Amino acid sequence: MVKKTTISLIKCDVGSLAGHHVVPEPLFKIAEKNMKKAEEEGLINSHHVFNVGDDLQLLMVHEMGESNQEIHKLAWNTFQEAAKKAMELKLYGAGQDLLKTAFSGNVRGMGPGVAEMEIEERGSDPIVVFAADKTSAGAFNFPLFRIFADPMNTAGLVIDPEMAGGFKFEVLDTIESKSVVLKCPEEMYELIGLIGTVDRYMISHVWRARDNMLCAVGSVTKLSLIAGKYIGKDDPVLIVRAQHGLPALGEILVPFMHSYFVAGWMRGSHWGPLMPVGVKDAKCTVFDGPPRIVALGFQVVNGRMACDDDGKPLIADLFDDPAFEMARREALELASSIRRMGEFEPARLSIKEMEYTTLPQILEKLKDRFKSI
Ligand code: F6R
Ligand code: MG
Ligand code: MG
Repeated sequence: MVKKTTISLIKCDVGSLAGHHVVPEPLFKIAEKNMKKAEEEGLINSHHVFNVGDDLQLLMVHEMGESNQEIHKLAWNTFQEAAKKAMELKLYGAGQDLLKTAFSGNVRGMGPGVAEMEIEERGSDPIVVFAADKTSAGAFNFPLFRIFADPMNTAGLVIDPEMAGGFKFEVLDTIESKSVVLKCPEEMYELIGLIGTVDRYMISHVWRARDNMLCAVGSVTKLSLIAGKYIGKDDPVLIVRAQHGLPALGEILVPFMHSYFVAGWMRGSHWGPLMPVGVKDAKCTVFDGPPRIVALGFQVVNGRMACDDDGKPLIADLFDDPAFEMARREALELASSIRRMGEFEPARLSIKEMEYTTLPQILEKLKDRFKSI
């Protein structure tokens, strides 16, 4: 049997510095210590710990498969320990995303976000992971469509015979808990019809149609549905494979040459422009944003990440590049324009998507003063 490699990206907001802003050093230290120990014990082969805004991100490469109990337990225990430290330091929102108390074998549905992909390594397998803060999984619908279905974005769809058969998309209906698979280009209009509704329909998997090769996996959760109330946006993660009959690295990154609007930002209740940044700028400030996204590139080799001579994974911080200056500037311009509208739609999300609202109290207070017309 061919040995398979699994990439697991599991993230959690366990508390942050000076508001919902950034993960501070002591929490990284805990994550790093636990990841290193798991590597020494042979549970995982490689890891990389990073953050985007207030979300602690554990990137692990191993051979244990998807939804492996030990891998999920490692992540869960690491988040618990980091949350404990966050509480000791009275960091902000300590333990915020640890919604359930008892671990039951899988962190899915317990608060943390998960994207996992088990693959048969190709001759060379470039991987890109994306992580965003102050937004939700629907934020990836637009770039995933562009990367895997839009011939104006991805030249390979038109001129690489390996990609000519198109791609299949699994779309989750997060309200009804159902999913459907649509094939592009044949069902492109139906796909857009669904995924244009970013708060409900979210792309969870993409496969190359001709051989069902898995090429993208997103974390699709709705914390609000888990918790039974609005408790924050889900701050999604995404894993994408690149090159050699799949979209090239540059075709995967080009949708981010321009900023676009995503749901989230301040109090999870506003439309805000997504800003692609290097990890050093992955912290949320203005109006708790603008929503930020980072992209890290690496290679997998024999069940681990390609490393330097000291065993440190080789990581490309892909948005730490002048090529994304324009998107960053656009994001600021769009941010300043839309903020002029304050709490008027479309700056503010529609009522059902708002994380914070005082409307029920307002209606209660005014209920006797409303007159029939
Ligand atoms: C959005 C987010 C922040 C907070 C805001 C208020 O997902 O995390 O924008 O919603 O800073 O936070 P609290 O109510 O904790 O003061
Ligand atoms: Mg937070
Ligand atoms: Mg966050």
